[in-house]
Amino acid sequence: MRKEPEPGLETLLTHCSENRAANYGAAVAPIFQNSLFTFESWEAIDRAFDDRVSNCIYSRGRNPTVSSAEAKIARMASGEDAKLFGSGMAAISAALLHYLEYGDHVVTLKNIYGPTNTLLNQYLRRKMNIDVTFIDGVEMAEFEDAIRSNTRVIYLECPTSAIFTLQDIRAVTRLARARGIHTIIDNSWATPVFQKPLTMGADMEVHSCSKYLGGHSDLIAGVVIGNKQDITAISVNEYEILGGVMSPFEAWLIMRSLRTLPLRMLKHQENALQVAQFLQGHPKVRQVRYPGLEASPQYELGKKQMCGYSGLFSFELVTADLEAIKKFVNSLNLFQIGVSWGGHESLVYPPAISYSKELPVEQFKAMGISFSDIRLSVGLENSQDLIDDLQSAFEHIN
Ligand SMILES: Cc1ncc(COP(=O)(O)O)c(C=O)c1O
Repeated sequence: MRKEPEPGLETLLTHCSENRAANYGAAVAPIFQNSLFTFESWEAIDRAFDDRVSNCIYSRGRNPTVSSAEAKIARMASGEDAKLFGSGMAAISAALLHYLEYGDHVVTLKNIYGPTNTLLNQYLRRKMNIDVTFIDGVEMAEFEDAIRSNTRVIYLECPTSAIFTLQDIRAVTRLARARGIHTIIDNSWATPVFQKPLTMGADMEVHSCSKYLGGHSDLIAGVVIGNKQDITAISVNEYEILGGVMSPFEAWLIMRSLRTLPLRMLKHQENALQVAQFLQGHPKVRQVRYPGLEASPQYELGKKQMCGYSGLFSFELVTADLEAIKKFVNSLNLFQIGVSWGGHESLVYPPAISYSKELPVEQFKAMGISFSDIRLSVGLENSQDLIDDLQSAFEHIN
């Protein structure tokens, strides 16, 4: 039998799982904004309960709008299935709880997203006696040295969203599989448009959809993508029982966003590269941490596992004077001060604001972050306007 060619990503995100025939031909699918589904008989609901994962009974389990968005995301990431959650942290917790048992050991990175670090190192350590080893994750020997007999999960974030270092995904997943260890990777930064960890051996991919997948700074959501068996288990356990579910309206917004994801990612990349190149040559900048720059120490590795680069990166100002750093940030007009990233608008956030409140200075420095670091989420505005904004802020500091 002739195999149909897989459509291009842009085509897939426009047409896959839209189910127009069942929706009066509506060009944009309606929202199933309902909590429950009714059945015509005892027998019908009884049959539905026999396969509660595939049937719509109650929206804490399955909802058609949420399922359509999940199908699109799974296809895009080359996964068998996906489960959307009410936030990225709900998705990350579900993925970890799915694999971990009491007393297991996890290997992860010093620079993972702060609340993921807290979940592992404080919450799960306290509640489930989970032990965690934190490494830089740049050299393979670090992974080999960190693995123990009870290591169950290697948790990656590639690149890390604090200092943008990469891990060699293929090498790590090869090592993990050989030792019977599961790999979970936070792929929020690159998105499946630029990086597909499931095709490189990862068991599970997680995202904060509040970033590029949502892309418009108007929703909070998360997703877990993996094989059918794992996602089915997560659906009936962590999803239904812990209940951090996805709302139909947010799922509908994500479908809206996915239709333009490839276009947006290309523009984020183009803008970020131009801004990073401008910063790289600036006398008031010590270093730029953007994996898309040829001068980046891991540029060759990046090219092997990513086909593009998103819009989030940081740079370090030469000055260490806190007043000058504050003046620089306060002088920006287009880059608005705010947490999070991945939306249409450009943002600035100096990690020192939160880390210096939450962490002891030694830990902050051990993570490789400097007090002079400035994180930018480069949005979809005109790139020259963004560069002019930065240039004028530089003129305010010595
Ligand atoms: C890399 C990364 N992963 C996960 C999350 C958590 O996602 P959410 O805020 O949607 O729970 C964030 C949020 O900033 C993040 O930056």
